[in-house]
Amino acid sequence: MSKKLFLVYKSFERFWHWMQALLIFFLAFSGFEIHGVYSFFGFRDAVRYHTIAAYMFLILIVFAIFWHFTTGEWKQYIPTLKNIKAQLNYYIFGIFKNAPHPTKKTVLSKLNPLQKLTYFGLKIIVIPVIVTSGLFYMFYRYPTRHGVQAMNIESLEIIAVLHTLAAFILIAFIVVHLYLITTGETITSNLKAMLTGYEELENEDGEEKKEELADENKTILEDK
Ligand code: HEM
Repeated sequence: MSKKLFLVYKSFERFWHWMQALLIFFLAFSGFEIHGVYSFFGFRDAVRYHTIAAYMFLILIVFAIFWHFTTGEWKQYIPTLKNIKAQLNYYIFGIFKNAPHPTKKTVLSKLNPLQKLTYFGLKIIVIPVIVTSGLFYMFYRYPTRHGVQAMNIESLEIIAVLHTLAAFILIAFIVVHLYLITTGETITSNLKAMLTGYEELENEDGEEKKEELADENKTILEDK
């Protein structure tokens, strides 16, 4: 089957992806200084920078939610169990034997079933946990001013544990994600796609059908 360049990741999507990567990297770096793992900015500045990056992350999330719903792209993340075993088998065995990818990437379905499940989990569990615990963390100091006392939050412990746990999960995700980036059609094809937006895909999905329809319409009009 012939291959063709398709716009897989639109410009906002690429901006959101790289901005999110940068912010999460920075939040993890400053966060683990706050946690006491090392000293780089100094505790006070680490907290200050972590807070600024956290606000930027929140703004990005609001725009990303808006984009996902207005474009319908949220549907790409609905998890499915179909082909999940085949995808797991591929990563555990097939990939080392040069087996073909078990699921086909298209513009209308760009995530494989494992990605759908993982990203869905990040979007509805890990990110909300890190954001809400982070906000509680931020405002617990001034219980009367911000009304958190009404929620009976007397100790930071559970908030700190949840925030740190979510941070560890995000970092584990990033490690696996970095490896999986290299497992596309070629070692760099996934990275290039997220940088340029374009990727060579088999020429048989909705985009092609749209083009076919456009061609047909053109021919009909020309015939008239
Ligand atoms: C909107 C998102 C976030 C908010 C509002 C937020 C907020 C906070 C706040 C207020 C603190 C405590 C600072 C202090 O002690 O005064 C903190 C600590 C921390 N943050 Fe975040 N954060 C966010 C996202 C992240 C992300 C994405 C990561 C890592 C990937 C992260 C990792 C950490 C870590 C490891 C700590 C230290 C926790 C501890 O030792 O108890 N944070 N965060």
